[in-house]
Amino acid sequence: MRLEGNTVVITGGSTGIGFALAERLVKLGNEVVICGRSEEKLKAAVEKLPSVHTLSADISKDEGRRRLFEFVTTKFKGTNVLVNNAGIQRHIDFRKGIVDLLKNEDEIEINFRSQIYLSAMFIPVLMKQKDPAIVNVSSGLGFAPLAAFPVYSATKAGIHSFTVSLRRQLRDTEIKVFEVVPPMVYDTGLKGKPIEKTEWSISAAEMADAIIEGLENDVYEMAAGASKNFLSASKRDLDKAFEDMNRRF
Ligand SMILES: NC(=O)c1ccc[n+]([C@@H]2O[C@H](COP(=O)([O-])OP(=O)(O)OC[C@H]3O[C@@H](n4cnc5c(N)ncnc54)[C@H](OP(=O)(O)O)[C@@H]3O)[C@@H](O)[C@H]2O)c1
Repeated sequence: MRLEGNTVVITGGSTGIGFALAERLVKLGNEVVICGRSEEKLKAAVEKLPSVHTLSADISKDEGRRRLFEFVTTKFKGTNVLVNNAGIQRHIDFRKGIVDLLKNEDEIEINFRSQIYLSAMFIPVLMKQKDPAIVNVSSGLGFAPLAAFPVYSATKAGIHSFTVSLRRQLRDTEIKVFEVVPPMVYDTGLKGKPIEKTEWSISAAEMADAIIEGLENDVYEMAAGASKNFLSASKRDLDKAFEDMNRRF
């Protein structure tokens, strides 16, 4: 796809991979709208990237998704790219029954439902635009899950499956449907704070560079670092990766 002159909405673009992508897209000459729940994080994003447009909205809620949709479609009528990036990750121990599951925010609402609902809301609008695209962010854990993050991994597997179907449904339209499959990214807010860099992890900047390259070359399933192997892995490879990754669990 062309990488300049677009109007791009990035959910959860205030930090991490979404923000690194926003920085690159702005630099390439695109209008970029980001959203997130925290006003503070959005303010910090604008300080670093003054031309980015922001909206505070919780897209795990119908009301937040509607507000984002109305904001974008009234103020940025040329919006032609939706990046479904917002996500959270939680340790959930099912040995504690329902207690642990209900304790905090709901990964199913944020990681899964919001991507599906926002896609459905935006598709009729995108179909009327030039060079439209949807970019869904899944995860290597959608291919080989981490048992400590059981719901997270399942939402990402679901996003992979949804994206494959969406790409097929939309193949007679102009909308290009991309999936981004990040490996572990060490300097984002996903785990509450940046984590130590390992041989398995990359930076948000490296991930955003890979997304830009993938978009530019119409690579519909794009990965980077360790998750690259997952895209072409056999069942046996994925089972082995699962065992290796979950040795301590
Ligand atoms: N980091 C990794 O290792 C990794 C690996 C594979 C895939 N990913 C995926 O990459 C995506 C980006 O994550 P990241 O690592 O860049 O984490 P991050 O720095 O924590 O970014 C997450 C973004 O989503 C926003 N967000 C979270 N819940 C939201 C909600 N209910 N409504 C609106 N915005 C919301 C956050 O802002 P607020 O908190 O202010 O709402 C933030 O802007 C996620 O989908 C994640 O699953 C990350």
